[in-house]
Amino acid sequence: MENWPHKHILTLSNFSKDDYKSVLELTERFNSLNTTGTKKIPALQGNLIISIFFEASTRTRNSFELAAKRLSADVQSFTPSSSSLSKGETHLDTALTYAAMGADILIIRHSSSHIPFEISKRLDASNSKTSVLNAGDGLHSHPSQGLLDLYTLIKFFSPKLLKPEILNSKTILIVGDVIHSRVARSNLWALTAFGANVILCGPPTLIPDEFIDFVNSAPTNKMPDPILARGSIKISRSLEESIKNSDAVIVLRLQKERMMENLLSSTRSYSENYCLTPEMLSINRKDIPILHPGPINRGIEISSRIVDEYPNCLINEQVSNGIPTRMALLYLLSKFKKQI
Ligand code: CP
Repeated sequence: MENWPHKHILTLSNFSKDDYKSVLELTERFNSLNTTGTKKIPALQGNLIISIFFEASTRTRNSFELAAKRLSADVQSFTPSSSSLSKGETHLDTALTYAAMGADILIIRHSSSHIPFEISKRLDASNSKTSVLNAGDGLHSHPSQGLLDLYTLIKFFSPKLLKPEILNSKTILIVGDVIHSRVARSNLWALTAFGANVILCGPPTLIPDEFIDFVNSAPTNKMPDPILARGSIKISRSLEESIKNSDAVIVLRLQKERMMENLLSSTRSYSENYCLTPEMLSINRKDIPILHPGPINRGIEISSRIVDEYPNCLINEQVSNGIPTRMALLYLLSKFKKQI
């Protein structure tokens, strides 16, 4: 495995193919360990990992904490409601306080974009060795979800020997509330890095036309894109049309809590056009995999019959794969620290 070049993991926009491959290979190794019974290893013994979730989470928070425990790290959770936030302490001072306690890694989720980045800059400015791992920030980025989705898809298409190149020229359909989705943004970086062609499907209020230029217009930390040739991005307003020739579908949650304006005439009309049902899926004649990052709104963006009965619905696999993926990320950040 190559040296790991990132002190912080804040976005996938600066990931090279080698970076993705390091994560995927380690995820596969940790996944094998988890399934063969050797669940706990001493790799991060003595490391202090703090999970600081300023915004609610079930999957990400618990799987990061389980991942840290499986690597034998000391894990501390921050609970906003019983913290000094109620006395006016800021998110930045909260993070700096944990860094001063000797945290090796801060896992941070926040409802505003770029807060983990701000915290990482502040830590770097004070020569702190603490790493920041973005667990989802506003509309910006959810790198661990993008990576576990990447692993889940590659594992589906190449179950015996993991081959990331298998995604080259595959058509991956992402349907739903793209504008509010940090997951979709991370999916776009990861999938196009391996040559997948992505179709974004939904109404114009949830997928503005500008998304077609997402990869070219996003600032990649003012550095050149480390991926030389990416797959394409297209926009479709018709689920019926776009599902026909897709090789996989990622369904997104309708994020009502982030909708400041009235972006839909009604939830019902949205569901009539964009809810993934068995009838809609049958337009595609292959048994394609269906993913959803969760939490799901049953009957709004995805039918219960897909979730509970369709054999290639991979939602539970995504949740399971979240643990080895996050073990890989924690391991790589600790490896970075040993390199310096
Ligand atoms: N997918 C995801 O981020 O889920 P949680 O909000 O439950 O962490």
